Amino acid sequence: MEALSDAFRALGDPTRLRILRLVGQAPLNVSELVSLVGVAQSSVSHHLAKLKGLELIREERQAGFTYYSLAVPPTDPRWPLIRLAHDAEDAHGDRARLTELLRRREDRASLNEKLLEPGQSWMLWATALSTLLPPLDVVDFGCGTGVLTVELARWARRVTAIDCSASALGQAQARAEREGLSNVTFLEADLHELPLGAGKKDLVVVSQSLHHVEHPEAVLAEAARILKPGGRAIVLELMPHQEKWVKERLGHVHLGFEPEALKQQLAKAGFKAVSITPYGRDGGDPFRVFLLTGVQK
Ligand SMILES: C[S@@+](CC[C@H](N)C(=O)[O-])C[C@H]1O[C@@H](n2cnc3c(N)ncnc32)[C@H](O)[C@@H]1O
Repeated sequence: MEALSDAFRALGDPTRLRILRLVGQAPLNVSELVSLVGVAQSSVSHHLAKLKGLELIREERQAGFTYYSLAVPPTDPRWPLIRLAHDAEDAHGDRARLTELLRRREDRASLNEKLLEPGQSWMLWATALSTLLPPLDVVDFGCGTGVLTVELARWARRVTAIDCSASALGQAQARAEREGLSNVTFLEADLHELPLGAGKKDLVVVSQSLHHVEHPEAVLAEAARILKPGGRAIVLELMPHQEKWVKERLGHVHLGFEPEALKQQLAKAGFKAVSITPYGRDGGDPFRVFLLTGVQK
């Protein structure tokens, strides 16, 4: 009874009711809610804290953002309240704005994949070259939604795809299933301390994940620990840049790395024969990437 009366009280606020209804339709982050509801970020955060305190919504980290979604199952005594909110008049046009926001989000996701495969032709080359590789046991550090994971799984004996985000892992798993790949193990874990045995893997791939972690040197040491002697690490990273907005918007911890400094970190972590391959994208792009490879000593 008390939970019900608390929920009634909390939902007496029309903005809070709109937020609850929106996150009941799709997981949304604070910036998205600000743009949908049209109130200040501090106010949205306050409403979210209240709803979360009453366990009406839950939060989950995904690719550096916190997403909020409805946490009330139909068996909950408060469910009729949720239904009432859902069916209430949409005087602000929230539904139409949400549909547009989700459409833009999907466009951005597919654009990212296109950018990863310029002209789509590298895919053919990668497939052709991968036929030359022995069947390796590969670990994908920070697999995200699994775009690279599935490409690795096409030729690897087994891929262990690791991420700390359950939601990203869910999307990666769905992608692997869609592609008919059954040689991927998905593991929710922190790259700083992996629940994997020492000296068993052939290859660790760290693509665009190192700038997300607090202690890159500890993550590289984990890579060295789980590799067999002679196993290899491949790191794809951003060059140093000044785009500070990526910290808040994308959850980056580091604004890129000096290749030479990262090379030294790899050597310190236990890798030899470390090589750097720079890669220049078109001049206007603030994000330039480079590759580092090393062999476990
Ligand atoms: C930009 S994504 C990289 C995705 C993919 N590797 C690629 O190249 O497309 C970075 C991923 O690292 C994950 N991540 C960040 N910190 C982590 C940590 N400490 N442990 C595990 N995963 C982490 C994030 O959840 C995110 O999915």
